[in-house]
Amino acid sequence: MDPTPKRQRILSGVQPSGKLHLGNYFGAIKQHIELQDQADCYYFIANYHAQTTMRDLAEKMSVDQNRKLKAADLLRQHTLDVALDYLALGLDPEKAVFYRQSDVPEVAELTWILSTVTNMGLLERAVSYKEKVEKGIEASVGLFTYPVLMAADILIVRSNVVPVGKDQVQHLEMTADIAGKFNRAFGKDIFPIPTYRLDKESKVPGTDGQKMSKSYGNTIDIFAEGKPLEKTVMSIKTDSTPMGQPLNPEPCNVFALYCLFATPAEKDELAAAYKAGTIGFGGAKKLLKEKIDAYFGPFRAKRKELAARPDTVEDIMREGARKARIETQRTMEKVYRATGLR
Ligand code: ADP
Ligand code: TRP
Repeated sequence: MDPTPKRQRILSGVQPSGKLHLGNYFGAIKQHIELQDQADCYYFIANYHAQTTMRDLAEKMSVDQNRKLKAADLLRQHTLDVALDYLALGLDPEKAVFYRQSDVPEVAELTWILSTVTNMGLLERAVSYKEKVEKGIEASVGLFTYPVLMAADILIVRSNVVPVGKDQVQHLEMTADIAGKFNRAFGKDIFPIPTYRLDKESKVPGTDGQKMSKSYGNTIDIFAEGKPLEKTVMSIKTDSTPMGQPLNPEPCNVFALYCLFATPAEKDELAAAYKAGTIGFGGAKKLLKEKIDAYFGPFRAKRKELAARPDTVEDIMREGARKARIETQRTMEKVYRATGLR
């Protein structure tokens, strides 16, 4: 019998699918990093999952950039980028176990075993699969069984809580279903039934006022700086109230983004300046850019420093996988015994 863990075990995965943006940071990453001081955290880069869409992404990016990009190079690059992003933003590999999914091959093995207790009907109801196929992504077996791989990620470290965005809730429900069925089939409480924790409900607006998202092309990247950042901030959509007229802060995207960085007093001050007509949208955008620079400046420096030492990053990822495998192998021993594989 397992001793009950003293602290909750938290796990979450992030797909290496491109540059991370302010929505990802304020909606998810910031909380992931804060949790490392409160629980046993396992965070990993879901590169197996990313394989379901990487060839499609490589094709699209090849067209956009008018040069041939290979899926393998892209996956490697994006995986390194996510590692650099998380480490630069404060993930501490001494506190949280941080690894690359494919460095823990037991995950793929457990996926197979779980697939034998997963009902086809359960997977057929997956909304995310249907949406991806509608978007033109190949309906591969891997894309279809994506939720089983996700269940394996979660169950293999016997996590209790999984922080995710709303779009992943159905996958968590499937994980609970699969874990329950496995436990019932093999007569043992091998897997704790995990629960999800919804990432902060805040909806960070993009430059066009819709929810910031890679798929809308309206993002402000966490690690953008200098002229490109200025260009993006200046492109944030506002209404056309002329300079000198009072402005309404409530529906303004620039104001909403500024609030993510500002103290309550600074928010009040900017709201008052909007209402008094003493600041225009251009001025507000300048203040926003200053805030972004002040907040992310130290993280940018850390990222550059890490990017210059890819071997150190590789060592960190390997050490994370070594720690994760102590747990995944313990789980697999139980699974082998319970199922008769050993
Ligand atoms: P994208 O929409 O850019 O593809 P993802 O779906 O990969 O982003 O989101 C990864 C995480 O970031 C999720 O936990 C999600 O809730 C969070 N997130 C993404 N965009 C936003 C946003 N605009 N506001 C708040 N949270 C967001
Ligand atoms: N499917 C998740 C996403 O697209 C990433 C992910 C893979 C994940 N495995 C996980 C998240 C396990 C939480 C737990 O965002």
